[in-house]
Amino acid sequence: MRLLLTPLFATLTLANTLELWPGQISTFLATPQTTASEPTSIILLIPDIYGHNSTATKTLAQKISTLSNLIVVVPDVFEGEPIPEGGAPSFPPGWQDRHGPAQVERVLDLTLAEVKRRWGEVKVGATGYCFGGRYVFRYLSAGKIAAGVAAHPSSTTIDEIVGAKGPIQIATAATDPSFPPAIRQQAEAALAEKVPYEMNTYGGVGHGFAVRASDPSDRRDVYALESAAENAVAWFKFWLE
Ligand SMILES: *[C@@H]1O[C@H](CO)[C@@H](O)[C@H](O)[C@H]1NC(C)=O
Repeated sequence: MRLLLTPLFATLTLANTLELWPGQISTFLATPQTTASEPTSIILLIPDIYGHNSTATKTLAQKISTLSNLIVVVPDVFEGEPIPEGGAPSFPPGWQDRHGPAQVERVLDLTLAEVKRRWGEVKVGATGYCFGGRYVFRYLSAGKIAAGVAAHPSSTTIDEIVGAKGPIQIATAATDPSFPPAIRQQAEAALAEKVPYEMNTYGGVGHGFAVRASDPSDRRDVYALESAAENAVAWFKFWLE
């Protein structure tokens, strides 16, 4: 049983560690209290539409770093144009075109190159949320990462999902129009035959639950948030060995 390890999200303090990485990419780094001088693995966190500088995402990166004892790197995949938080998301005209696979993967590739420059041939695990989940499948498919976790992925296709060629864990809400049961079942049938695979389905929560508790007084929301992060860490600890 690996559930509800400490510290909980609510107890974490954030260091303000935004750095400018090559390509002028603002990057958030969450660093564990004790870092190996030569880490053997690193976690890449691919954020949701609210981007790398959202407090919820930075707290999540810190939680994963603290529990895994690994450095977590969160690049600004939107190059200065995240969707503002609060209320229903509102997309400026042309946003989707400015932040499609070509642009996002350019940023991710620059980030992976800098990871390699700093830390050498480390194993990279990627965890992606909503918008970012799609890129975990694409990068597992391309062999650019060693293991992946996708939480409530959106804007992806069954072909992208089943293209994954390495260990993949998926966290999903029982009811999520972005990742409906029909896709979930197809993904399970195809992936379970092919790669190390795990899917955790959470009831009573909605899309986005692994990044922020939509109601912090609802214990189902808090449980799903904490548990999804802990399951992700268990996955990386095992598959990045
Ligand atoms: C990050 O957010 C803070 C406010 O929370 C803001 O002052 C800062 O300019 C932001 N930095 C980037 C690179 O987005």
